[in-house]
Amino acid sequence: MSRAEPLEGLRVLVTAGPTREAIDPVRYISNRSSGKMGFAVARAARDAGARVTLISGPVNRSTPKGVWRVNVDSAEDMQKAVLQYVPDTDIFIAAAAVADYRAKEVSPRKIKKAGDGLSIELVRNPDILATVAGQPEPPFTVGFAAETENVTDNARAKLVHKNLDMIAANQVGHNQAFDQDDNALTVIWDEGEQTLPLQSKRSLAMALIGSVARLYRSKRAKGERA
Ligand code: C5P
Repeated sequence: MSRAEPLEGLRVLVTAGPTREAIDPVRYISNRSSGKMGFAVARAARDAGARVTLISGPVNRSTPKGVWRVNVDSAEDMQKAVLQYVPDTDIFIAAAAVADYRAKEVSPRKIKKAGDGLSIELVRNPDILATVAGQPEPPFTVGFAAETENVTDNARAKLVHKNLDMIAANQVGHNQAFDQDDNALTVIWDEGEQTLPLQSKRSLAMALIGSVARLYRSKRAKGERA
C-alpha cells in the first residue's frame, strides 16, 4: 500500500492573483501580482492529495488539472466567492494580492479629461483573510505577507493581529517576489518559524504545503482542530 498523501481527504481553498477595482467602464486600479505563487500552491495542494478550489483574480494562467477554479474581478467579488466556499474548507490559503482600496463610486460613463488634475475618492476593501479567520469556526488559515522591511517582525504581528494559524512572509521590491519565477519565504506560526530558501515558486509551494500539512496535523492531534 502506498503512503498516505499529506493532505489526503482535506479540502483546500486558495486565493490567487490581483483584484481589479473599477473606476469607470474602461479603467481600473490593480497591482502587479501574476498569480504564480497562488497557482503553484493550488497545484502543490492537489499533489498532496487535497481537493482544491482556486479563486483567482484576472490572470493569464491555465488552471492546474483537477483543480476547481472560480474567476473573480474585484475584492468584493473575491470575498463573496470565498465566503461561499469556506463552510466546506479545511485549509484556507490566501495568496491573492487583494487591492486595499476601491473607488468609492464607479462612474457609469468613461471619465473625460478636464483640467490638470483628477481626484478619485477611495474606500477600504474588506480584508478577506481576516474575515475568514474571524469566523466562529474558521478553517486552518494561512496568509502571505509581502514586506519591504522588518519582514519577519511585521509578518508575526500580522499573524497575531489577523488571528492566523500560519503566515508566509517574503521580501518585496527591487524585482523580488512579484511576477518572478523564484522566491524565498519565511514560514511563521505561533511556536516557530522556518526559512524556505530561494527556489522556484513551484518547489517553494511544495515545501510550504509540507509545513502547512505538518502544523495542521499537529494542531489536530492536540485537539485544537476538529
Ligand atoms: O495586510 P496585508 O495586505 O499585508 O495581508 C496580506 C495577506 O492578507 C495575504 O494573505 C492576502 O491574500 C490577504 N488579504 C486579504 N484581503 C485583503 C488584503 C489582504 O485576504 N483585503
